Amino acid sequence: MSSILSLIKRKVFRVNRDRWNYQYDKGLWHGLKALDELGRFSVVVGYIKFLKPDQPDILEIGCGEGLLQQRLQQQNYGRFVGLDISDRAIDAARADADPKCTYLVADMDRYTPEGTFDMIVFSESVYYSKHILKTLQRYSQFLKPDGLFLITINQHKHSDTYWTEIMAGVQLVDETVVTTSKGVFDCRVFRPH
Ligand SMILES: C[S@@+](CC[C@H](N)C(=O)[O-])C[C@H]1O[C@@H](n2cnc3c(N)ncnc32)[C@H](O)[C@@H]1O
Repeated sequence: MSSILSLIKRKVFRVNRDRWNYQYDKGLWHGLKALDELGRFSVVVGYIKFLKPDQPDILEIGCGEGLLQQRLQQQNYGRFVGLDISDRAIDAARADADPKCTYLVADMDRYTPEGTFDMIVFSESVYYSKHILKTLQRYSQFLKPDGLFLITINQHKHSDTYWTEIMAGVQLVDETVVTTSKGVFDCRVFRPH
C-alpha cells in the first residue's frame, strides 16, 4: 500500500521529496561516491581550503549524503550546514556527521538559513531550484561580507543557459573545468553584487 502511495506521489503529484527518496532508496546516486566524481569534489575542497583557510562556516545546498563534508574533513570548517530535500540522503549524511555539522531536510526554494556563511556551495544542485536567480539572490543575504558562492554544473545542453543567468552581474573569482571519465564539470567561485 505504501509503495502505491509513493508511486502516486512521485508520478501523479510529482512530489519532489518522494522522487528523490525513491532514487536514493534505489541506489541511483551511489555513483556520486565513485572515482569519476573525485575530480569535482577535489576542486570544490581545494577552493574552500585555499580561499577560506581559517575554519570557514559552510552552507551546502542540495548536500545529498554529505560527501563534500566528509571529503573536506572537520579541521577545515568551523560550522558545516547541509540541507537536502531528501530525508534518506540526510539520514545518511547524519550518520557520518561530526559535532560541527548540522544536516537538515529542507527545500532550497523555501529554506531560510540561520546565521551567515563564508561560503555557500551548490555542487550539482542549483539547477533543481525553480528560480535559480531568485534563489541565489536570496541566499546572498546569508553570506558574510567577504563570502563567496561556489557552484558546479556539469556540461549538458542547458548548462550554458544556467551560467548566463547566474553570472550576469556577479564578480567571478575563479573557475576550473574538470574533465573525468563521467563528464565535464564547470566549477566557479564568485561574489554576488
Ligand atoms: C546530483 S545530487 C548532488 C549531491 C551533492 N551535492 C554532490 O555533490 O554529490 C542533487 C541533490 O540535490 C537535492 N535536491 C534536489 N532538489 C532539491 C531542493 N529543491 N531542495 C534541496 N535539495 C534538493 C537532491 O536530493 C540531491 O541530493
